[in-house]
Amino acid sequence: MARTALITGASSGIGREIARELYARGFRCILCARREDRLRELADELGENTRVIVCDVSKKEDCYRLYDEVKDENVGVLINGAGFGLFGKFCETELERELEMIDTNITAVHILTKLFVKDFAQKDRGYIMNIASSAGLMSGGPYMSTYYASKAYVADLTSAVARELQEAGSRVHVCALCPGPVDTEFNQVAGCSFGVKAISAEQCAKDAIKGMFGGKTIIVPSAALKLAAVGSRLMPRKLLVAMTGKVQSKKGEA
Ligand SMILES: NC(=O)c1ccc[n+]([C@@H]2O[C@H](COP(=O)([O-])OP(=O)(O)OC[C@H]3O[C@@H](n4cnc5c(N)ncnc54)[C@H](OP(=O)(O)O)[C@@H]3O)[C@@H](O)[C@H]2O)c1
Repeated sequence: MARTALITGASSGIGREIARELYARGFRCILCARREDRLRELADELGENTRVIVCDVSKKEDCYRLYDEVKDENVGVLINGAGFGLFGKFCETELERELEMIDTNITAVHILTKLFVKDFAQKDRGYIMNIASSAGLMSGGPYMSTYYASKAYVADLTSAVARELQEAGSRVHVCALCPGPVDTEFNQVAGCSFGVKAISAEQCAKDAIKGMFGGKTIIVPSAALKLAAVGSRLMPRKLLVAMTGKVQSKKGEA
């Protein structure tokens, strides 16, 4: 039976390109998102063995249903790619939208990681990639505060689970993808624009999959961003947040 990969957020951007990359490496793909037409289009491209599951991961019951529907399908790779951002001052942004973000970016990732890592640990094989962001490595991001905090959760949870697995001698690999700006529908959804040049979703996906199968825990595509991520760790937290805020504030100007 072909190895199977489950990809949430497969209807667009990074998730869609990761699905293409995994398919090219011989994986059967299960594609998940809310926009069925987009998923079917990709499934047609990838071939008839591809499965589509329409699912709103901001709803806990949809996450549990997704797991139940695929748990007997030999899933060996889980990509938690569904997510979104929101630009604006914390005292002005809409609470309900932020709670939806927390449900999508944090709770869904937590539930699916928990359910699959248990199965994978029992079989002593499997890969989980949680798409965090370089935002998750920055100690806070003014004007996108909830988004940055949600990605810090994902990066920290993933690092800790990865360490537990390593200490147990497990062959299950868990990693976090932490890209900087990537050219996708992200900005359109978040209501902002990037101040710096973005990499393509295709490039991001290639680096991500190479990093995951290469055994990396935190994957930062692009050399310049890797350097920035290392540099940021040496900076006092207050200064780092102030600098991030300066960059962030420009995102609303376009
Ligand atoms: N683009 C960047 O610069 C960047 C940088 C760092 C990290 N990231 C992260 O990368 C991930 C993918 O984003 P992207 O840049 O590829 O943006 P995108 O093009 O907007 O794609 C987002 C994907 O998430 C899915 N999604 C959103 N809410 C969902 C929900 N409730 N249930 C199911 N699926 C949902 C969307 O599908 P439907 O709308 O069809 O449901 C879509 O497939 C996100 O976690 C994002 O935070 C992006």
